[in-house]
Amino acid sequence: MSSLLDVTDLRGGYAAADEIVRGAALRVEPGEIVALIGPNGAGKSTLLKMIAGLLRPRSGHVRFRDREIGGLAAPDISRLGLSFVPQERNVFGTMTVAENLEMGGFLDRAQMRPRMEELYQRFPMLADKRRAAARTLSGGQRQILAMAMALMNAPSLLLLDEPTAGLSPRAAEELFGTIVALNRDGVAILMVEQNALEALAVSARAYVLVQGRAEREGAAGALALDPTVRDLFLGGAAAPMLAASRGDSS
Ligand SMILES: Nc1ncnc2c1ncn2[C@@H]1O[C@H](COP(=O)(O)OP(=O)(O)O)[C@@H](O)[C@H]1O
Ligand SMILES: [Mg+2]
Repeated sequence: MSSLLDVTDLRGGYAAADEIVRGAALRVEPGEIVALIGPNGAGKSTLLKMIAGLLRPRSGHVRFRDREIGGLAAPDISRLGLSFVPQERNVFGTMTVAENLEMGGFLDRAQMRPRMEELYQRFPMLADKRRAAARTLSGGQRQILAMAMALMNAPSLLLLDEPTAGLSPRAAEELFGTIVALNRDGVAILMVEQNALEALAVSARAYVLVQGRAEREGAAGALALDPTVRDLFLGGAAAPMLAASRGDSS
């Protein structure tokens, strides 16, 4: 079976800096959770924006369900079943929860009502708050709303850019639980995360992006234990200890 998403030798960036993504390659199989981790500024967000059609790749391929989507416009990519939740400004703060969901579903008006009802059942908090302005939600609730907006297109693949950024450890844990539950219902997920260990714990596979390229990839469990990965990207007290145990002098 072919991959759901298959990115090969992707290159590009912004008008002023066009060498941010430098030959990135990754794949997501149907129904997988895949984590994309790496240091700040590695190009993780840029890569997601390129896959989602918000930035045009300079070269390379993005294949989604056996179709070349590299260079297509974002709404056309959404229509094919690939939804993106950006890290910031991912809800309309002054609009109500219900209005935000309507914005998420604008591509397919005929399905709007039934999808909203499904999402209210899945996330009762959104039903309770349907008339509340999005800016009155907690950080965790806002992330649920942002994901629900993306789910209005009934995607088979969801791209999430740092969904737990700024959340308390408890709210982050809850959100990871929500992501896993969505995945169990068949939505594949590619997520960028700073909470690398937690992301690896819920993912099947992962990629470590460094300077616009996937420097390492593999089973998430194996990457979580890889001393170099821990040392370079996961930080914390374990890093010097691991360096010492390897006999590094630096
Ligand atoms: N809108 C932009 N215009 C120009 N350069 C940008 C823009 N956004 C990000 N960059 C640059 O692209 C590089 C990668 O950024 P980004 O993809 O946000 O990294 P990450 O998500 O891995 O932290 C950084 O050097 C950043 O300064
Ligand atoms: Mg980023």
